Amino acid sequence: MKTFIRFFLLISIPIFIAVIVGFTIIQKNVISETKQQLVKDTKQKWLIVKDDFASVSGKNYLVYNKYAEISDKTNLRFTLIDKNGNVILDSTVVYEKIDLLDNHADRPEIKEALKTGNGTVIRYSKTLNKKLFYYAGKLPNGNILRIAYPFSYIKMLEKSITMQMTAVFTVLLVTIIIIVALLAQKLSLPIQRLNYIAENVEKGKTNIHFPKFRDPQMAKIAALIYKIFQAMLNKQNTLKAEQEKLEHIFSVMDEGILLTDTNNRVIHINESFKTLFDTDVEMGDNLLESLNDAELIDFFDEILQNDTVNRAQFPFRERIFEVYVNTMNDQKLVILHDVTDRIKYQLFKAELTGNISHELKTPISMIMNYAETLMINDDLDDKTRKKFLKTIYSSTDRLNELINDIVELHKLESLGENFEISEPVDLSGLKENMQMLYANVEDKDISFHFDNTKVNFFSEHLQSVITNLIDNAIKYSDGRRIGVTVHKKNSQLHITVDDEGPKIAEGDKKRIFERFYTCSKSRNKEKSGTGLGLSIVKHIVELYEGVIKLKTNEWGGNSFHIIMQEKSTESKN
Ligand SMILES: Nc1ncnc2c1ncn2[C@@H]1O[C@H](COP(=O)(O)OP(=O)(O)OP(=O)(O)O)[C@@H](O)[C@H]1O
Ligand SMILES: [Mg+2]
Repeated sequence: MKTFIRFFLLISIPIFIAVIVGFTIIQKNVISETKQQLVKDTKQKWLIVKDDFASVSGKNYLVYNKYAEISDKTNLRFTLIDKNGNVILDSTVVYEKIDLLDNHADRPEIKEALKTGNGTVIRYSKTLNKKLFYYAGKLPNGNILRIAYPFSYIKMLEKSITMQMTAVFTVLLVTIIIIVALLAQKLSLPIQRLNYIAENVEKGKTNIHFPKFRDPQMAKIAALIYKIFQAMLNKQNTLKAEQEKLEHIFSVMDEGILLTDTNNRVIHINESFKTLFDTDVEMGDNLLESLNDAELIDFFDEILQNDTVNRAQFPFRERIFEVYVNTMNDQKLVILHDVTDRIKYQLFKAELTGNISHELKTPISMIMNYAETLMINDDLDDKTRKKFLKTIYSSTDRLNELINDIVELHKLESLGENFEISEPVDLSGLKENMQMLYANVEDKDISFHFDNTKVNFFSEHLQSVITNLIDNAIKYSDGRRIGVTVHKKNSQLHITVDDEGPKIAEGDKKRIFERFYTCSKSRNKEKSGTGLGLSIVKHIVELYEGVIKLKTNEWGGNSFHIIMQEKSTESKN
């Protein structure tokens, strides 16, 4: 519609202006033509009637009467004036009053006629009180014969001409407008169709109906647009597929991925990012404004201030993130990789290697020293020899224990959080195993209270936790009584191992779960271990999202209380 109106106005306005200008010019010309014709006509009339006045030199009733009658019928006025300007006859004035008329010598047409032979003027008549058209001509005797028309006659003539012309031009204009409208419609239709195609292409519509074009040029343009559109569509589809692929990759990546503009508005964010930082920021949000954790805001504020960051480590709370930032085309790509476990593992490995070599040194040097003494001194008595061999044996035993612990710890480290439990543990079976295992322990009175049920745990894990705690109670407690309770409550397993003390010192309570930590008191004890037992226990407990509580029991000894969450039967994956 817009195009049509534009076309219509574009064609009709100049035509309209041309018609109006043409109309005005023609109207002016016709009117001036008519006036000239009137002058000619009057001159002819003057020539026809001049003979009647040529011989009149004074007031003449006969002539007056004849022309008074003509004046009545035609509205023409005949005036005869002598060369001094005195009116001799006037066909529109009562005969008797002619003498009273003014001298006409000052009338412009009279002046002109006296000078040049004739004169024409349109002016107001004081005699008749109306506007008249005058034609005055000099007669052979020197008098002036003047013929006048009332101006209203000319006006009427003009009006009639204008009216007729207006009618003709109105018809003409209406015809032109109709033609122009049809023409504009014809011209604008293909453009409207092209516009329709272009608009739909812009909107990204895929099922556009392509109208037919009669004009070959237009058809060519339409075909071209269609071709461009198809190419664009193909590109768009390829891009979409690429984008979906990328989004899929982003969604399955462990790394948090964030794409923002320069104003920190989120262009893309993946699920891992939201999970890592427990946020529900969405695309289109301003990252810093949407986060409601001051520490997190500071963390990202610091990161986003950089244009490029290449695998730098940024700590956040208890975690460490390896951060990559790249700014391109006013967009910032941030990739965050949680490397806490990797770093912890590296630290653990370094620490473990150091600790292991340190722990290995003592028994190995003991074995070497005693073995060397035995080799060099042949004259050692049997008692000393036996004593030395016993020491070598106990050092080897200690080495064996240490290596077993390290192997178990390593197994736990590599197991990770996601493991499947193939078969539940029967607690009464486990109780029997334990009773058998500790049947030969002298000077200790171990009581086992196990629920008669099955629990979803790794059998080795439960055994390891319980035996480590019992071993410690046997090794470090001076009392006789040791109580072992395994009880299931809802999906939680409660393991308690009680001894009669001595109580573990407050300062040691937290540290005994560290790797290779042994309390200073028990260090000197003959039975002191490698300090790995409780760290293995702690590790297992963590695998089941559990807790360890160390309290004083009613016997005044240590009570190790463990609560672990049973694994669901289905794998976590
Ligand atoms: N029931 C307990 N009573 C007193 N002290 C204990 C008890 N359990 C653990 N401890 C102290 O905590 C330390 C750490 O125990 P942990 O079991 O980790 O190592 P360990 O027994 O020394 O060596 P491992 O268990 O590897 O043979 C022990 O050395 C001991 O000093
Ligand atoms: Mg131990």
